[in-house]
Amino acid sequence: MCGIVGYVGPATDGTALDVVMEGLARLEYRGYDSAGIAVIDGDHVAFRKRSGKLVNLRDEITGRPLSATTTAIGHTRWATHGGPTDDNAHPHLGGPEGRLALIHNGIIENFHSLKTELLAQGVTFASETDTEVAAHLVAAAYERTHDLTAAMLATVARLHGAFTLLAIHADQPGVVVGARRNSPLVVGLGDGANYLGSDVAAFIGHTREAMELGQDQIVTITPDSVSVIGFDGTPAQGRRYHVDWDAAAAEKGGYPSFMAKEIDEQPHAVADTLLGRTKDDGELVLDELRVSEDALRAVDKIIIVACGTAAYAGMVAKYAIEHWTRIPCEVELAHEFRYRDPVVNGTTLVVSVSQSGETMDTLMAVKHANELGALTVSICNTHGSTIPRESDAVLYTHAGPEIAVASTKAFLAQITACYLLGLYLAQLRGGTAADEAQAVMRELREVPDKIQTVLDRMDRVREIARFMADSRSVLFLGRHVGFPVALEGALKLKELAYIHAEGFAAGELKHGPIALIEPGQPVFVIVPGPDTPHDLHAKVVSNIQEIRARGARTLVVAQDGDEAVVPFADEVIRVPRTPPLLQPLLTVVPLQVFACQLATAKGLDVDQPRNLAKSVTVE
Ligand code: G6P
Repeated sequence: MCGIVGYVGPATDGTALDVVMEGLARLEYRGYDSAGIAVIDGDHVAFRKRSGKLVNLRDEITGRPLSATTTAIGHTRWATHGGPTDDNAHPHLGGPEGRLALIHNGIIENFHSLKTELLAQGVTFASETDTEVAAHLVAAAYERTHDLTAAMLATVARLHGAFTLLAIHADQPGVVVGARRNSPLVVGLGDGANYLGSDVAAFIGHTREAMELGQDQIVTITPDSVSVIGFDGTPAQGRRYHVDWDAAAAEKGGYPSFMAKEIDEQPHAVADTLLGRTKDDGELVLDELRVSEDALRAVDKIIIVACGTAAYAGMVAKYAIEHWTRIPCEVELAHEFRYRDPVVNGTTLVVSVSQSGETMDTLMAVKHANELGALTVSICNTHGSTIPRESDAVLYTHAGPEIAVASTKAFLAQITACYLLGLYLAQLRGGTAADEAQAVMRELREVPDKIQTVLDRMDRVREIARFMADSRSVLFLGRHVGFPVALEGALKLKELAYIHAEGFAAGELKHGPIALIEPGQPVFVIVPGPDTPHDLHAKVVSNIQEIRARGARTLVVAQDGDEAVVPFADEVIRVPRTPPLLQPLLTVVPLQVFACQLATAKGLDVDQPRNLAKSVTVE
């Protein structure tokens, strides 16, 4: 949510504008309702900003060029306070003749009282944003201190809420100052140039050396220095790390969209998440968890907290974790968990699942769990992000950068990592659970090839999606682990194609949703494999018959060799045979492809759906 880039480079080089525009292009997925850039041009600050996508800003700069410069900040916005207009776009200026420019991600919760105070002092506002308050405060503090870092330090003490701020001042060319509280900011370490970004994608085209900042820290970059202090003014250290993917991984590579590319990358996302986590004999080794085996053995309750697609990954995992470990496992939307007084104590394991590691609702849930004394483990795809830092331990998914707003490969990697955690807990318990864990690991290693098989068969699904481009409503039914898959299939369609879509537990059909069935209503049914316990296969086949009898058009996702579905299916979408608990890793793929293709057929931008943002860094 809101992409932020900052750059300072060599005095002889005029590339700041290009570097920041390139960074904004890579961060556009974080928010795309307006964009802006500010540079230090000689003795003043120059800026351009425009509502709409980044292309509008580019056109503006082409029409009214900015001078070559060494110092720049840029922003791509997801509106919170104030609509997506030119005036509300960042940067916001402060001080005499607008000599300070500032950009912001997050929400300044006390902006109203600060604004009242500034208005009483005669300050005039050019926008409706909370951000502009910070611009005026930093500018006023600069007038007193004549030092941008000191001015930022004085300002953050007055702000409540979550924020990343970057500022430049015309009096201090070659300096960008950033501050963060509960909102992302990483440093890119170059050779004679340094960078700031909401995430490493901002500067991955220039350097893979990065520095993680802690909460409540201020960073000051010049072309050849990076210094960090805490909000209390004491010196602090960032943690350096190497980014293990390069710029090519964050580009489309010939695909029509990032989403299409990321769907195709799923066999690798799962394989890489499994990689290096077992010994030759199949024993799981999760040394990276750095939690004592005794602490894990003592766990008597697991709560998975997450939002959106990540929460559906958690729902899938619940079935498997409880089955393998016999430890009660709940899944809860992070924002509900945080504010409902949950029963949590020192033997509760709270597992957060987040691709970005920055989702504010999930972060707040983790902090709350920490306060309640729980053991907190983060399943996360982004090194250097906030949620892993705030957790006792982290298990990284290795899906590579996910750029499309609608999550696909991260979902599969999250399920895989949750399974690794569940199997590890089962292994620690010993006995039959440990034997079963080894058997499941063997099956899991075959999954990437099976996902590839599903991908290789997607032509017909694309064709169906094109035929169905005018659909007004699509329903999804699933049972057992197929239920969260149905929910995810519906979410993908809502996010991308803006059509009504609902996922239901197939067993719930007769308790209400069947009333929605009318002639021609398309319904995807995710059918459990015939070997699923408790005759669930037969029960779901009965559901297909029930809806078909009422005129539904049935699109059935079933395993190879499952002939029982054929008489009742208008379309059968085949996936390879795999044990029941691993089926979601295959059955969700056709639903992703369907949503992507249907939205494309409607002429929509699948990478940047309306109103959404990839990383939601406000509560
Ligand atoms: C947003 C995105 C979803 C994503 C969710 C959680 O709502 O649009 O695609 O699943 O955030 O994101 P996270 O980064 O925490 O996995």
